Amino acid sequence: MSHASLAPELVADYSLRTHNTFGFDVRARHAMKIDSVEAAVAIAADRRIANMAQLVLGGGSNIVLTRDFDGVALVVGIAGKRVIGEDDDAWLVEAGAGENWHDFVAWTLAQGMPGLENLALIPGTVGAAPIQNIGAYGLEMGERFERLGAVELATGERVEFDRAACALGYRDSFFKRAGRGRFMITSVVFRLPKAWTPRAEYADVARALEGAAKCDAQAIFDAVVAVRRAKLPDWTVLGNAGSFFKNPVVSAQAFDALRAREPGVVSYPQADGRVKLAAGWLIDRCGWKGRGIGGAAVHDRQALVLVNRGGATGAQVLELAGAIRRDVLARFDVELEMEPVCL
Ligand code: EPU
Repeated sequence: MSHASLAPELVADYSLRTHNTFGFDVRARHAMKIDSVEAAVAIAADRRIANMAQLVLGGGSNIVLTRDFDGVALVVGIAGKRVIGEDDDAWLVEAGAGENWHDFVAWTLAQGMPGLENLALIPGTVGAAPIQNIGAYGLEMGERFERLGAVELATGERVEFDRAACALGYRDSFFKRAGRGRFMITSVVFRLPKAWTPRAEYADVARALEGAAKCDAQAIFDAVVAVRRAKLPDWTVLGNAGSFFKNPVVSAQAFDALRAREPGVVSYPQADGRVKLAAGWLIDRCGWKGRGIGGAAVHDRQALVLVNRGGATGAQVLELAGAIRRDVLARFDVELEMEPVCL
């Protein structure tokens, strides 16, 4: 995503269309690119914006913008990638929050420091990755996370968050809960183990690897890119925010009842005895694939992804999401939880 049009100074009446991967043309009363930690610290003392509502935006790949924003959009553009240290077991690498996630993953491989390859091609920025603890194809970012640097917007104070403080969960963290809207993440440090082992159990990835000469990190990276390109829409062509719902986790009892009625239900047993269901399967089974409301539609190759076929608004996407939730609840007695954040 190009932020070239937005400068590190305050501008008025700014379209966020190129700053959200659904491509919704909502406007912010003000906007400013934040390109350094110092600029992030300075927000609290900037009398022009300190009392405005503030919206921190990375790549805008996990947000539904439903209306114009009467405040200041702070677009994180903090750059930089470096190896900051190592111990016997791992390398520590750090990236500025504004770095493109996929480019950062490719860079770590080029440094000979694998470990993030399963997360190739996920849209968005490095700084947004911990907020929803991005995950795909058998790996969650949290497994490679060391710490992050942030600035508290109201005070300008620099704060460091270790793993525990981030409270990372499945597509979840402190920054989606109690910390929501309070901090700007400025940098993230990852711990990449020197003893690399492939994560290639995920069926689609294993299949894509079949032709590869060897199963190294680059081969997994390539396989993940191929699988994602085959299944998931490219937001630059068809606006979307990835999975629109989390895969719901139900009790063993509820699962048994469901399976009795729906023997084909796709499920993943959890360590605590509960069972995770594939929301995409539930939505697909309700007949939603390829259907929509106005320009908002369910992707025709992955029912968990809602897309902007052109001209959709955030409100239409939410309306569609509501209809899907009602159907899934009525048919399977399962509540779907939305995955992106909503303005
Ligand atoms: N399925 C269907 N119909 C569909 C979609 C899926 O029957 O329309 C079935 C598939 O056949 C499969 C199962 O549901 O048996 C799961 O589908 P898939 O492997 O595509 O993964 P997912 O559970 O839908 C999750 C993540 C994705 C991640 C993939 C791969 C969540 C909410 N989503 O999707 O993450 O890329 O696994 O690991 O956990 C994202 O978070 O934005 C995202 C794209």
